[in-house]
Amino acid sequence: MSYVNMEAILENARKNHYAIGAFNIVNYLTAKAAVEAAEELGQSIILQTSVKTVKAFGINEMMGFLKPIVDQAKVNVALHLDHSTDVAFTKACIDGGWSSVMYDGSQLPLEDNIRNTKEIVAYAKPKNVTVEGELGAIVGVEDDIFVKEGDKAHAKPEDCRVYLEKTGIDAFAPAIGTAHGVYKGEIIIDYDLFDEINQFSSCPLVLHGGTGLSDAMFHQLIALGASKVNISTAIKIAYCQGMAIFTQMHPDQNDPLKLDAFTKEEVKKVVTNHIRFFSLMD
Ligand code: 13P
Repeated sequence: MSYVNMEAILENARKNHYAIGAFNIVNYLTAKAAVEAAEELGQSIILQTSVKTVKAFGINEMMGFLKPIVDQAKVNVALHLDHSTDVAFTKACIDGGWSSVMYDGSQLPLEDNIRNTKEIVAYAKPKNVTVEGELGAIVGVEDDIFVKEGDKAHAKPEDCRVYLEKTGIDAFAPAIGTAHGVYKGEIIIDYDLFDEINQFSSCPLVLHGGTGLSDAMFHQLIALGASKVNISTAIKIAYCQGMAIFTQMHPDQNDPLKLDAFTKEEVKKVVTNHIRFFSLMD
């Protein structure tokens, strides 16, 4: 079966010390590019959709064009909702056919985050949908969630223990110093904290803010237990730059299919490079 939730693919990655790439796709072209890249490498993949993207298309419309891609894929594909802060919208995507969701209550007090995450887990489990949760504050902009530098807060191990135990989530994203978007200053990652959390975590860990991390950082974090690595900004850049490069190279070309074919290859290259790296093929 090609359409799966995150459980089996992340548990396998955790056990074998590699990571699955989770790529934020924005439309049919980027989804198809990502799945083709995974198929050519024979690796499982997670397609992620931000809430903003899902709202731009509509839940049913988006599932309408994604479902044939994931159903026909030659590798395992999970379709995951990224950073949903809205309980009702998260449930609507579960009903709409997503195989996995992230409920992001990280900006709430711990008790409220736990309560809402538990509600999502209780709703998702009977439908065989996996749930990712987050603690701490990941700096930067993802979707419509802004976290300023000064608001940065690493996840606290004692909170993580309570959160994991009480919620029963399937994947956990603790804030350890990585950021969404393009990194501006020095990247300071708390590797010890990541290691400590992984030692007691009942479920695989997720690394957010993948765009811009160095090979050495990825290697170290995957070695310490990152089983899912999120890449969003690099996909957006490849897509927009791909279109810009093509139109600059061919100013008189008016065939949208040629523009799409070129842009798709640019997106595919980014996905291929990351999957190769995360699955330790390089
Ligand atoms: P980047 O935009 O830095 O790649 O982060 C992606 C991410 O963590 C999405 O949740």
